[in-house]
Amino acid sequence: MQNFEYWTPTRIIFGQGVVDKLPETMKRFGKKVLLAYGGGSIKKNGLYDKVKSLLADWEIYELPGVAPNPKFNPSVVDGVKICKEKGIDVILAVGGGSVLDCAKAIAGAAGYDGDPWDVVTGKVPTTSAIPIVDIITMAATGSEYDAFSVISRTETNDKVAYYSELVFPAVSFIDPTYTYSVPKNQMLAGVVDAINHVMEQYFNEDPNDLADGMMEASIKSLIKNLEIALVNPEDYNARAEIFLNCTLACNRIFMVGEAQSGWPMHAIEHALSAYYDITHGVGLAIITPRWMKHILSDKTEARIANFGVKIFGLDPATPVRELAEQTIDATYKLFEKWGIPMCLKDVGIDESRLGEMAKHVADTAGLDQPFVYAPLKEEDILEIYKASL
Ligand code: NZQ
Ligand code: ZN
Repeated sequence: MQNFEYWTPTRIIFGQGVVDKLPETMKRFGKKVLLAYGGGSIKKNGLYDKVKSLLADWEIYELPGVAPNPKFNPSVVDGVKICKEKGIDVILAVGGGSVLDCAKAIAGAAGYDGDPWDVVTGKVPTTSAIPIVDIITMAATGSEYDAFSVISRTETNDKVAYYSELVFPAVSFIDPTYTYSVPKNQMLAGVVDAINHVMEQYFNEDPNDLADGMMEASIKSLIKNLEIALVNPEDYNARAEIFLNCTLACNRIFMVGEAQSGWPMHAIEHALSAYYDITHGVGLAIITPRWMKHILSDKTEARIANFGVKIFGLDPATPVRELAEQTIDATYKLFEKWGIPMCLKDVGIDESRLGEMAKHVADTAGLDQPFVYAPLKEEDILEIYKASL
């Protein structure tokens, strides 16, 4: 087992009606609040009005319109400006992972006098952060329980992962009933994202039984409960279990003692959503089986086959290479069955920029480093893109 450190300072407040505890929670952070939210879903489902009435005694400044694949410019830049001008005490992010990621970047950059991009890219270290409270309304990224933020910069096609322990949310409110209004395509994308978070950790050099068991249980729970929620979108237990899985899947608790993996599918997908602004989970559904197929080798076949036995109940007596191929096929068919677009062309991506994206990923993501489970060079990344067309 590998040495590890594990720490999460986020208080999770989970369940139906928990948002009523917001005022009690917000008391300790001060009066000046930056309320960040997205394109309007929280106004439609009543959460915006609820928050405003619960926080009637607070001084609220708003940052509306944070887009999916949140943009550095204008959202992060505008948010930092408000924080500096108004002396914001706490950022309240209400919405999906994009809103929360934007809040994290603002929180970490607000105390820096230079260009906030320096902080987001890690050019300068984060030395302080405004506390963050969130009401997360999408079961997907797990941003509510991690210290990552993914920010896009349209003019350079960058989509960078920003990490600082200082931007763990202080408190995350999770009421699964708010996910009832999530459109079906976003619900599917969210679950694929969480499945992929688990897979990114599962395919590593040094597995252990406990971590594997948590990850296998999580993927099975996600599949089972998604299929219940597809039939009955207001099945509370299914929505709650999906959300709990999503919250834990990106937090690293699932990979305690296991080796790092390099998160290759995420690096390859992030270029797709940076260049074409597609939905992250959809990009992952397309990339996942193509990545598995590309890395299938004498070294990886047993692990892939084990995944098929544990997740899809495939017959362990099947010869290992055949079993691994069946696993890849089953993964593809699972996403296809849910109606997710499974080819780049289905989401408006043609071959014209594949080379440029492959180079961008190869230059920035470090996927050829020896610790990566199956190291990838630029030509490997390009092949994975081409196979996804
Ligand atoms: O903008 P609004 O109107 O709020 O609508 C959103 C948006 O259109 C809508 N939505 C969210 N909650 C809703 C709802 N609609 C109805 N009812 C609700 N309760 O859903 C759409 C997508 O929202 P978004 O926040 O973009 O989705 P998600 O949570 O999947 O976040 C995706 C972003 O997170 C990044 C992705 O790359 C992408 O930029 N990631 C962040 C990670 C992290 N912080 O740890 C890890 C992930 O791997 C991922 O990369
Ligand atoms: Zn993801």
